[in-house]
Amino acid sequence: MKVRDFLLERYFAKYEFSVRHMLSASDCETISVRELLDGADADVEELWSELRLSYTESRGHPALLREIARETGVSADEAIVLNPEEGIFLTLNALLDSDDHVVVLSPCYQSLYELPKSLGCEVTRWYLKKEDSVWKLDLPFLERAIKENTRLVIVNFPHNPTGFLPSVEQLNAIAELSVKKGFFVFSDEMYRGLEHNPADRLPSAPSIIRRSVALGGLSKAYGLPGLRTGWVTSTDKWLLDRIAALKDYTTICSSAPSEILAIAALRRSEELTGRCRGIVKENLEMARSFFCENSGRFEWFEPHGSSVAFPRLLGGQPVKDFCERAVTERSLLILPDVVFDVDWNHFRIGLGRRSFPEALSVLREMLN
Ligand SMILES: Cc1ncc(COP(=O)(O)O)c(C=O)c1O
Repeated sequence: MKVRDFLLERYFAKYEFSVRHMLSASDCETISVRELLDGADADVEELWSELRLSYTESRGHPALLREIARETGVSADEAIVLNPEEGIFLTLNALLDSDDHVVVLSPCYQSLYELPKSLGCEVTRWYLKKEDSVWKLDLPFLERAIKENTRLVIVNFPHNPTGFLPSVEQLNAIAELSVKKGFFVFSDEMYRGLEHNPADRLPSAPSIIRRSVALGGLSKAYGLPGLRTGWVTSTDKWLLDRIAALKDYTTICSSAPSEILAIAALRRSEELTGRCRGIVKENLEMARSFFCENSGRFEWFEPHGSSVAFPRLLGGQPVKDFCERAVTERSLLILPDVVFDVDWNHFRIGLGRRSFPEALSVLREMLN
């Protein structure tokens, strides 16, 4: 398999565990195994204490599949448990052939466009538009981009890196176009649960788009990236069977302890996602006032979901140099937009960590 390096992951690999201040993480503040189990019900406590470290069921623990079904609105046999990044890899391999055309909402997490490219597909990047410091979805562009051989449209809502969240009407428009033109939709919902106004939460794609597959997981909205647990859901039995068959070549089955901890997490879904939303809300208020105070130096784009935002550096300095200075002079990690394969002078900040105020004050010092 020939695939380009994952720019963001390589950047993180270089600095993530050595810098003093992290301003760009996309996950939310994590909790300990003890905290997760302290709040668990008697059933989970028993599953945990009786747990044997054997192989597990390839599609996932039945109790975990039931929790995923409840959370996403499909039935338990319409889900497969896997590692989130593995979910992207397996789904795209299951769905795509080299003569397919794929449209990918952009900028975005690199595997969403890099894997289709590595499979030989033609990829059209469907960029979010910027209008008066607001991210906008360009639906007319999508309609024009669809070709005879368009097999797949890939979206990610709430969106990394911008925090963009469409309306349900816009999602419905994509659903209608999928019926009219016959393409499949891959909906990356890793940040679902992190809508800044919970009333804006979108239905998971398979409940409104017939030909769709959704990716979800515990890494972002639950603050549990170390579990490496996610899922794909679809009402398309053929696709799920293909993904399950390919999983035999990656992980075969999920980690037994992670599955039980994931059941514990999903049974406390509102509490755990509410905790992460609370942290994001406080940090977002601080970020908004910081960027407004410094409006001569930055252009702020208000996010409406996710734990990230994507402001623009003004004043002519290349953002790559700015981020380089931050990391070498201040041990402060900020992600430049080049790791998202765009050259717009934007950078990503992460709003999900408790250390955000301290990291922001280091940025403030650097500006002064
Ligand atoms: C949009 C998106 N999809 C998928 C993933 C992969 O999730 P994980 O790192 O838990 O495998 C990420 C991680 O940052 C992401 O931002």
